[in-house]
Amino acid sequence: MKRLANIALGLLASAWAAGQQKPMDQFVTELMGRMTLEEKIGQLNLLPGGDITTGNAVSSPLARLAAEGRLGAVLNVRGQDKVRALQQAAAGSRLGIPLLVGQDVIHGNRTVFPIPLAQSCTWDLEAIEQAARIAAKEATAQGINWIYSPMVDIGIDPRWGRVAEGAGEDPWLGSRIAQAVVRGYQGSYGPHNAMACVKHFALYGAAEAGRDYNTVDMSRTRMFNQYMQPYKAAVDAGAGSVMSSFNVVDGVPATCNKWLLDDLLRHKWRFGGFVVTDYESINEATVHGLGDQAVCAERALKAGTDMDMCSKAFADRLAALLEAGRISMADIDRACRRVLEAKYKLGLFDDPYRFCRPERLDTDIYTPEHRQAARRMAAESMVLLKNDAHTLPLAPQGRIALIGPLADNRSNMVGCWSTDDRPEQHSTLREAMERAVAGKAEVLYAQGCNIYADEATQQAATFGRPIDRVDDRQARAQALSAAAKADVIVCAMGEMAEMSGESSSRADLDLPDVQMALLRELVATGKPVVLLNFSGRSTTMQWEAEHVTAIVNVWFGGSEAADAICDVIFGKVNPSGRLTMTMPRTLGQIPVYYNHLSTGRPVPHGASGFLKYRSNYIDHRNDPLFPFGFGLSYTTFEYSDLTVCGSRAQVTVTNTGSRSGVEVVQLYIRDVAASIARPVMELKGFERIRLSAGQSRTVSFDISPDMLAFFDTQGNAVVEPGVFEIMVGPNSRDVLRATYELK
Ligand code: BGC
Repeated sequence: MKRLANIALGLLASAWAAGQQKPMDQFVTELMGRMTLEEKIGQLNLLPGGDITTGNAVSSPLARLAAEGRLGAVLNVRGQDKVRALQQAAAGSRLGIPLLVGQDVIHGNRTVFPIPLAQSCTWDLEAIEQAARIAAKEATAQGINWIYSPMVDIGIDPRWGRVAEGAGEDPWLGSRIAQAVVRGYQGSYGPHNAMACVKHFALYGAAEAGRDYNTVDMSRTRMFNQYMQPYKAAVDAGAGSVMSSFNVVDGVPATCNKWLLDDLLRHKWRFGGFVVTDYESINEATVHGLGDQAVCAERALKAGTDMDMCSKAFADRLAALLEAGRISMADIDRACRRVLEAKYKLGLFDDPYRFCRPERLDTDIYTPEHRQAARRMAAESMVLLKNDAHTLPLAPQGRIALIGPLADNRSNMVGCWSTDDRPEQHSTLREAMERAVAGKAEVLYAQGCNIYADEATQQAATFGRPIDRVDDRQARAQALSAAAKADVIVCAMGEMAEMSGESSSRADLDLPDVQMALLRELVATGKPVVLLNFSGRSTTMQWEAEHVTAIVNVWFGGSEAADAICDVIFGKVNPSGRLTMTMPRTLGQIPVYYNHLSTGRPVPHGASGFLKYRSNYIDHRNDPLFPFGFGLSYTTFEYSDLTVCGSRAQVTVTNTGSRSGVEVVQLYIRDVAASIARPVMELKGFERIRLSAGQSRTVSFDISPDMLAFFDTQGNAVVEPGVFEIMVGPNSRDVLRATYELK
């Protein structure tokens, strides 16, 4: 019986194979010619797998819908066997159309890479592309063919927890990274590639007060100049799908926003893939106040939404809407065609089991090469923020006190959105450190404190990754006793994995209460204190920056983070991470970002004027604690001789320290006078170079018109002749300046 079924499936697959040899248009047109209305609507329906088990994958409601041709895609179905069972059900439907199988593979799969914000701090586009390629390879080995990433939302408000999932605050760097990730996932749609889904279109990162899902409101000028570029870049790189965002754009929820999805994305940007909603967005449009489910389904479809994630609004409403003449057959056909085209591009009509090869489960997942790449990238992503008296790198000798709630914690190392992680497969920091110094130094471990003094807050912070509560007084005493015996104190403190990511906004960005109290006591011992700050966002560290000896922002480095941290703190790797998100001094400065518009006040330093007008705050400085692009190294670099000759800018960079290191040479441009107010500076290029001790290199940048352009309110690039300031340096604050004139 089983054999017969397999033969039938084989015949079906080869029938499709023959079909797919036809050009896509012809193939899809012929297929649609045979589809009923119900089958077409079925293609627009995306439902979650939840926790179906292998057995009932065959008899689950999903399998039934798939077998009836009323399901186009699934998400969160885990395990190749379950995916295969669902694909078999779909293959058994009247037309046997295979399923898209989606998942949030956000920063790696079983091999977990650093969170995207940390990845962006590497400024290493090749490594980022490779991480995406590996993630796709592991995901496709498990049946996934569609990845809900990259998230390219610009993040300038660190209260918003989802900044962890993006590439920071800069549109230009964000665009380059978006393209690298799309290339890494999609490649040329081979068996190790999945379709990317660029999200969340659009402006999701601009939620008021950094509260996830909150209202967004902004001018077209700001939209096009600060927020839209990474989405457009991802589309230009050929991203196969786009996910609309939860928020309103110009007052209309993105999912129902015709201007956004149709005029801009489809027509102006010529996006050729399909648009999926975010989770239940069509139903949420009702809550936004657009009307009942039928109205929202109608508006979403007409606006250009092709697939409905989990609302069941398309599945339940479109037939009646058609009958009532509120939507047309052409509306449904258009969406259906786009979904079928995606399946065609993925080669699913050739072989619905293309991503269900059992042998790949043994060869393609969590391999030593993948882990090595993740470890390398994690080390590259860490940002050295302070290093008094060359405290780092540590010599592996004497006694090292390792203190803090993240020091011996397995499940929180990886960061948010790492659902395929197997914590038991990788080390805690304590284990990695003991290995790294074995036979040379002694590690004295103490947890030292809870995450938060308040149990309920701790519960929220450790959602899904609980850690034991300790008696704070007792734990503190143990930590102080370990510190007393040690030569150096290493603190593993900060956020837990679930304190950033979706629905994880924070209204206070300081080191949580009990951790801060302990850190102060450890600093008071007078011993050198190294703070490893775990975070999924920029946090406020004004006190730490003044009092702690050395600080490394380690973010969440993924499954290999523990070894990577040791690589950095013991000097196997010289840190080269550079911030892609400004670090504020204090919460009240937020949003504080480097590429802000030029304004008339406060008056610049050095200019005459009342003292009162030199800062906008009475109680604080304007400038951030650590600027965009900032990061130290165990060596030092000097910049000299910035010249602009023709359209080429050149600078000399010298490694003036005593060890080899990587420097990220950054080019910023300012449009001095234009028809609209322009930012004080904008990143337009960079080069990552390795210099050995004493070595100098000339780095050049060709200034091209696109680097000088801005966008008008229609989203058109405009280049205006005139004078531009050219700035090159190690970060956005410490730059050399020259001018360039575009005639
Ligand atoms: C998130 C998306 C995610 C989707 C599917 C939503 O809540 O906003 O980023 O891709 O869920 O899991």
